[in-house]
Amino acid sequence: MTPEDRRPTRVHAVAPLAECPLDPLPLYRERASTRGPITHSARIETYSPSIEGWSPRRPSPVLTYPLAFEERESVRADGEVRFEWDHSTLRIQVHWPAGTHAYGLGASPGPLLRNGRSLLCWNTDAWCYGEHTPALYQSHPWLLAQLPGGGSLGLLVDTPRRLLASVARDGVEFAVDGEPCVLHRVEAESPGEVLAALAAMIGPIERPPHWALGYHQCRWSYASADEVRAVATRMRAERIPCDAIWLDIDHMDRFRVFTWEPERFPDPPGLIDALAEQGFHTVAIVDPGIAVDEESDTYRAGREGRHFVEDSQGNAIHGRVWPGVCAFPDFTRASTRAWWASLVRRWIEESGLAGVWNDMNEPSVMRTPTGTLPESAQHRGMGGGEHARFHNLYGHLMCAATVAGIRAARPSARPFVLTRSAHLATSHLAATWTGDNMSRWEDLAWAVPMVLSLGLSGQPFSGPDLGGFFGEVDEELFVRWFELGAYLPFCRGHGEKHSPRKEPWSLGRTALGHVRAALERRMRLLPMLVTAFDQAHHRGLPPCRPLWFDDPDLWEVDDAFLLGDDLLVAPILAPGVSERSVPLPKNGAGWFRHGGEGEVWTGGQAHLEAPLGRTPVLARAGSIIVEAKARLHTGEADTLRTWHVYLDPRGRAEGELFEEPGEGLEEIYLRRRIQARLHGGRLAFHLEDRGEFPQPERERRLRLYGLEGGPREAVLPLGDSFELDLESSGGSWKSVFREIP
Ligand code: NOJ
Repeated sequence: MTPEDRRPTRVHAVAPLAECPLDPLPLYRERASTRGPITHSARIETYSPSIEGWSPRRPSPVLTYPLAFEERESVRADGEVRFEWDHSTLRIQVHWPAGTHAYGLGASPGPLLRNGRSLLCWNTDAWCYGEHTPALYQSHPWLLAQLPGGGSLGLLVDTPRRLLASVARDGVEFAVDGEPCVLHRVEAESPGEVLAALAAMIGPIERPPHWALGYHQCRWSYASADEVRAVATRMRAERIPCDAIWLDIDHMDRFRVFTWEPERFPDPPGLIDALAEQGFHTVAIVDPGIAVDEESDTYRAGREGRHFVEDSQGNAIHGRVWPGVCAFPDFTRASTRAWWASLVRRWIEESGLAGVWNDMNEPSVMRTPTGTLPESAQHRGMGGGEHARFHNLYGHLMCAATVAGIRAARPSARPFVLTRSAHLATSHLAATWTGDNMSRWEDLAWAVPMVLSLGLSGQPFSGPDLGGFFGEVDEELFVRWFELGAYLPFCRGHGEKHSPRKEPWSLGRTALGHVRAALERRMRLLPMLVTAFDQAHHRGLPPCRPLWFDDPDLWEVDDAFLLGDDLLVAPILAPGVSERSVPLPKNGAGWFRHGGEGEVWTGGQAHLEAPLGRTPVLARAGSIIVEAKARLHTGEADTLRTWHVYLDPRGRAEGELFEEPGEGLEEIYLRRRIQARLHGGRLAFHLEDRGEFPQPERERRLRLYGLEGGPREAVLPLGDSFELDLESSGGSWKSVFREIP
């Protein structure tokens, strides 16, 4: 080693991407070559430290998708990005002007804003987490910043290594453990364009099957087929919308993965078929730990195939999880992923399961000081190396193997996986949830910034355990959880084994009524959610977005959010509250209460009544929100569309709708643009359709807002260009804004 080499190296430069091919994991090559690139207007530059003997021209562990942009020039002024390498830690400093607001880095309880915080990317089983928990289950080494003069910045640290991000007023420092890496810097005019660039880099999420957007009922655990049937029957008897029932670890024989407890679950396919007949999909859990048990075929096959993570002497490493002593698949190995995929495939083919829940995949190892595998454990795939290098990718790779198994079992269906542990690029494989929260008001309030932050960090499909996982919940908190959850991308009720039950009926009839109503509201919004997920798929835009997407002055607001382009949700997140205020983005002409009696707010703050059972949701003046019927599950007939038309001061409104079958991989869809215009007492509609999907609509209703005297209702014709004579329906048609010509 020369003295030169020992000195920390500081370089501000730059490997133009054309010369820095980022070799996607072989696993994704096929996908990368069959999907078109996301287009965006962002400028992406890659910075690499120049360290003797190190080259950035190695496979990128994070980027799994070819970068799709034309701009390759990337020379920056000195001082903006600084690298410092001391042979154990790479420090990357990026400076920005004071007044910059930083977000991202995945989910963390506490405020959405990251300035003044240090967050660790090190996947950890963080049960009962709180504001001071250093790291949660997932790693998103990605920051999205809003610059004071306008414009947005994205920073992606391209490493799966443990990383500490310390965000200050004037910049950020990333300290990366053990190995140099490159930094990608993305700049664009808006946060949406930066997120489109991120989606282009990590691969956009797939459109989920529609049943995955319905309500999911889970508990640790429904411990027998009889109990599962009873839950399903009650769900239908109480007329609660529900698309899926989940089986936690007690469905297994002594917690051995891919098994069924023979006494309590004697006929899994019979159970799953019977549930399917009632309109339920069944999802079951699988953990990576495989019980060390010579009697188990799965274990023996794993041992014989040398599929387990080993120590430096070549012995499989053992650790405790639910079944006792376990060995852990080395998912870095292609042959181990293929083996796991074959287990998943057989499990699904034999049982008929619709989806898979990957849990404990940090991986969580009990009764150890670190709660996971030793950092010195050895992986033998992807170039090999210590667990420290691959730890944060363990859950991601397990998801890749699981998805491969599901695809093999059901080649023409959209796979659904929920994962606890993840890395930045996992979102195109699996949805996620915010882990083991508690039945407390603070956890309810954290759910909003956590879901928003995941959306800003490349994972649009997430939600919390509704009701709270640990602890006892009272009626008010329970109802408020569901009122919020109805508007979040992933909507699942769950509860821990020793905590009181948290099914929709567990807190009494009043709570049940409110929960049912909240889930019905979600089902009505399904066309809008499907449209929002299409935006996530095509443009990387999360369904739930912070208000500062619309108005940079609202940079601190993290207790309300935009849902899709035009709804503003202001949930109640504190006890004993029956009203709240929400600041309104300045770029809208006004906001109506969605589905309300015509109340409108034109600026500043909206003050909203919200007794238990009512969640304040506003719709932007000038928008059209299309709703469906509140079905019991997404498999029920879906022939009604209600158009909520919110006229702006010029008497106009416009909406976008994406309709598709909701299952299957073919590109069958209808993309619809609806325009409404009020002129001389007549309301003219014009539709522009693209795509082939035979629309499910047999009945179309209108609810029109923005005229004095409250909303008007009418049945609309099914054509694509028609007019409505408002005078003939009687009464005045003056605008509430008093501006319509
Ligand atoms: C931990 C998960 O976070 C939780 O949701 C699950 O119920 C338990 N594991 C038991 O499987």
